Amino acid sequence: MLIETKNLAHVYMPGTPFQVEALQGVSLEIERGEFVGIIGETGSGKSTFVQHLNGLLKPTSGEVLFDGHNIWTKANNMRKHRSRIALLFQFPEHQLFEETVFKDIAFGPRNLGLGGEELEKRVRYGLELMGLDFKLYKDRSPFNLSGGEKRRVAMAGILAMEPEVIILDEPTAGMDPSGRRQLLEQIKRLHSEQNLTVILVTHNMEDVSRLAGRLFVFSGGRLVLEGTPVDVFKSAETIKEIGLELPPLTELLQELKKSGKDISTDLFSVEDVGREILQLYREG
Ligand SMILES: Nc1ncnc2c1ncn2[C@@H]1O[C@H](COP(=O)(O)OP(=O)(O)O)[C@@H](O)[C@H]1O
Ligand SMILES: [Mg+2]
Repeated sequence: MLIETKNLAHVYMPGTPFQVEALQGVSLEIERGEFVGIIGETGSGKSTFVQHLNGLLKPTSGEVLFDGHNIWTKANNMRKHRSRIALLFQFPEHQLFEETVFKDIAFGPRNLGLGGEELEKRVRYGLELMGLDFKLYKDRSPFNLSGGEKRRVAMAGILAMEPEVIILDEPTAGMDPSGRRQLLEQIKRLHSEQNLTVILVTHNMEDVSRLAGRLFVFSGGRLVLEGTPVDVFKSAETIKEIGLELPPLTELLQELKKSGKDISTDLFSVEDVGREILQLYREG
């Protein structure tokens, strides 16, 4: 197993009036090469959870294992760990700070001790994966880029470390639909072509159901559902109880099924659902 958490709990500001039990008893497993989604409403513990996976937060109790080893043992090199399992924060563009795109992307790999040609190679690699031309972008100031470009540069900086796992915390928050579609398409390609293990945190059920093989649903700091999107969406009641909505297409299919129509409910693309409904319509 690549990533495993055992009974993970996290308390913020313990022993103060502001104490928050942000995670409780979270045990889950993620295999190498998987694309998983972490969903839950705001405050359910998603960001707290993923920050444990790359060692930014230390468990109050419980364990985080990577490749079978507890990441908090002395023997573990935490800096190296954070480059193997890289985390892109929510609104990552707030963390761009260098005067050129090149320097910003080079920051992570430079911290890993790389320089010279190898460093440039890494910067090129990151930019290319994000569909940004090296020559056109390397000398530009990150501050003069569009919102979408900034986010792609931030992501290029993560990829330049050649991680094995990327964790993306609400990567499309605040983006317009076309920018969102583009970024998700790129994330999908990173998973299929670069063999990356991807952990996508989102409250957008539609995006994640089309991309992720498995979902983990959080509520109130606990893991309440897990499984393939099809399996998870079968628990429509629970999903609604914890403040989430099914993807509209799934809801439509489930309603049609409930009304007695012979229809499949495990379709996620507009094309597939369209075809299914067209067939139903033709059959009368
Ligand atoms: N740095 C922090 N200090 C204190 N409480 C926090 C901190 N970060 C998050 N919390 C609290 O922990 C809970 C889980 O938050 P978070 O992990 O950010 O959830 P999500 O990412 O699902 O919105 C919330 O109640 C939140 O207010
Ligand atoms: Mg969050």
